[in-house]
Amino acid sequence: MEKREQLYEGKAKKVYATDDPELVIVDYKDDATAGNGAKKGTIRGKGVVNNKVTNSLMKMLEENGVPTHFVEQLSDRETVVKKVSIVPLEVIVRNVAAGSFTARLGVAEGTRFASPTLEYSYKDDALGDPLINSYHAIALGAATREELDTINAYAFKVNEVLKAYLAKFNIDLIDFKLEFGRLPGGQIVLADEISPDTCRFWDASTGAHLDKDLFRRDLGGEEDAYREVLKRLLGE
Ligand code: C5P
Repeated sequence: MEKREQLYEGKAKKVYATDDPELVIVDYKDDATAGNGAKKGTIRGKGVVNNKVTNSLMKMLEENGVPTHFVEQLSDRETVVKKVSIVPLEVIVRNVAAGSFTARLGVAEGTRFASPTLEYSYKDDALGDPLINSYHAIALGAATREELDTINAYAFKVNEVLKAYLAKFNIDLIDFKLEFGRLPGGQIVLADEISPDTCRFWDASTGAHLDKDLFRRDLGGEEDAYREVLKRLLGE
């Protein structure tokens, strides 16, 4: 596998072409942003944690029937994934009220829902990733009804599998964001990352944040929290 030119640089990752047109290499950075880029900083070691945590969770999900883009980890920060065309939706699943849900709907943080919720944001930095419904997603051409049905089913499956898995490590899965992609044949697979950047992880005993909220809210301790997630999940 040969690493070729950089195709893209995002807020937290770079993507490189390879000599195989169906594969790309993701390179995880320590750069951290919040509030759609309004707050910028660094969380030392974050790239390594997010790479390793994402890969181990993707493998676990694949074994549990959720197809993903994961192919092979190359190094501490680099992973080979299948090249996909990203569905321009952030798919957010929530078990407990937190973050924008509490702000928008006036529900106290920590309120546990009887059943999980699902919402979409339209991926558009200029618009600030606005909340949309499934009719909007179809009208915008982001996905078809059939694709949304598949995405919803995978998102709830990820929630069930991941929630049970993380509970074994004394981590409470509060909410998370997923992104999906289309393979050349049109099949929908789970893409992007599943990490303390994209999930709210609370210690199941103390409720302590083990995720990016420490950075977003200037609470401090984010480097230790990311390391703690890696230690619990991978023993490293
Ligand atoms: O901010 P909000 O409460 O809507 O976030 C819900 C979940 O989605 C959180 O776990 C957060 O980490 C994740 N998220 C994300 N990227 C965004 C927005 C939210 O990973 N751009």
